[in-house]
Amino acid sequence: MPGFLIPSEILHFVQNRPEELNDEGRSEESLQKIRGLPCLVFKERKGEVISACLESKGARKMRVLVISSSPHKEKSKTFLLAKEVLQGLSEQGISLEVIHLLDCNINFCRHCEECHKKILYCSIKDNTSIILKKMLEAEGIILATPNYINQVTASMKALFDRSAHFIHCKRLLGKYVAGVVSSGSGQNQEVLDYIQYYAHTCGGQYSGGVSAAAHALKDKLEEAYRLGEKLAGDIKEKKVFPEQMEIIQAGKEHFKRIIQLRKDEWQEEYQYWANKGWL
Ligand SMILES: Cc1cc2nc3c(=O)[nH]c(=O)nc-3n(C[C@H](O)[C@H](O)[C@H](O)COP(=O)(O)O)c2cc1C
Repeated sequence: MPGFLIPSEILHFVQNRPEELNDEGRSEESLQKIRGLPCLVFKERKGEVISACLESKGARKMRVLVISSSPHKEKSKTFLLAKEVLQGLSEQGISLEVIHLLDCNINFCRHCEECHKKILYCSIKDNTSIILKKMLEAEGIILATPNYINQVTASMKALFDRSAHFIHCKRLLGKYVAGVVSSGSGQNQEVLDYIQYYAHTCGGQYSGGVSAAAHALKDKLEEAYRLGEKLAGDIKEKKVFPEQMEIIQAGKEHFKRIIQLRKDEWQEEYQYWANKGWL
C-alpha cells in the first residue's frame, strides 16, 4: 500500500520546521525535498494550525475533507478508523485535508437567519465559515465522530446547525459523504443513519459508513479501507444513486416552496435558486 504522510506527521512537520513555511503558510518547496511523497499545503496559519492539506501531484485532484470530532484527536479510536478509510482512497490525485473540531471554535447557531439573507455570512465570528468553505471546495467529505449517546458529538452537531444554508440551497449536491463512527458498544447504526440524513438534507450522496466498537477496531479495518476505495470511486465516476437522488429531489421540492414563500427575506438564497434555474 503506498504510504503518505498522516496528519500527526504533518503537524509534527509544522511544529518542527515552521521556518520553512512562507507567508501563505505553504511548504511546497520543503516538501519537494521529500521524494515520492505528496505535496503538503497549509491554507490557514493564524496562531494555531487547524488543518493541514496533503496534495499529490497529478492532473486532476480529488478533494477530500475529513472532519473529525473526537476530543482525542490523533489518538482517537474513530480517527484511527478514519485513517484506514484514507488509506483506501487512491493516493493518485488526491488533495486531502483533515480538520479536528477540537482545534476549532464553533459556537451554537443563534437562528438569526442572516446566512439565508446573505449567503455564507454569519454574525458569529469563529472558525465555522472556514470549515463550511472547505466543505464546499471538497468533492468528498468524511465525517468521523465518536458515538455520544447515540448521536454525533455536540461539536459536530454544532457545525451541522451552522450549515443550515447548505440545506436550503442543497450545497452538497454532487458531493459524496462517508461516515466513520466508533463507540464502546459497537452499536452505531443510528449515528451513521444521522450522518446519511445530514448528507441527503444538504443534497449530498452518501457513499457509505463504517463503524466499530473501540475494543474491536481491527475487525473493521478492512471494511474501512474498502469504504475509502468506494468513496474515491464514487467521486471519480460521479456515481449517481437513483434511490438517494429521489430523497434529495424530494427535499429540494420541499425547499423550493419555502424559498419562494420567503423570497423577500432570504434574498440571496432566492437568487441562488433563480441562478441555478431551479425556480
Ligand atoms: C459523552 C459520551 C457519550 C457516549 N455515549 C456512548 C453511547 O451512547 N454508546 C456507546 O456505545 N458508547 C458511548 N460512548 C463511548 C465512546 O463512543 C467510545 O469510547 C468511542 O470509541 C470514543 O471514540 P474516540 O476515541 O474517537 O474519542 C460515549 C462516550 C462519551 C464521552
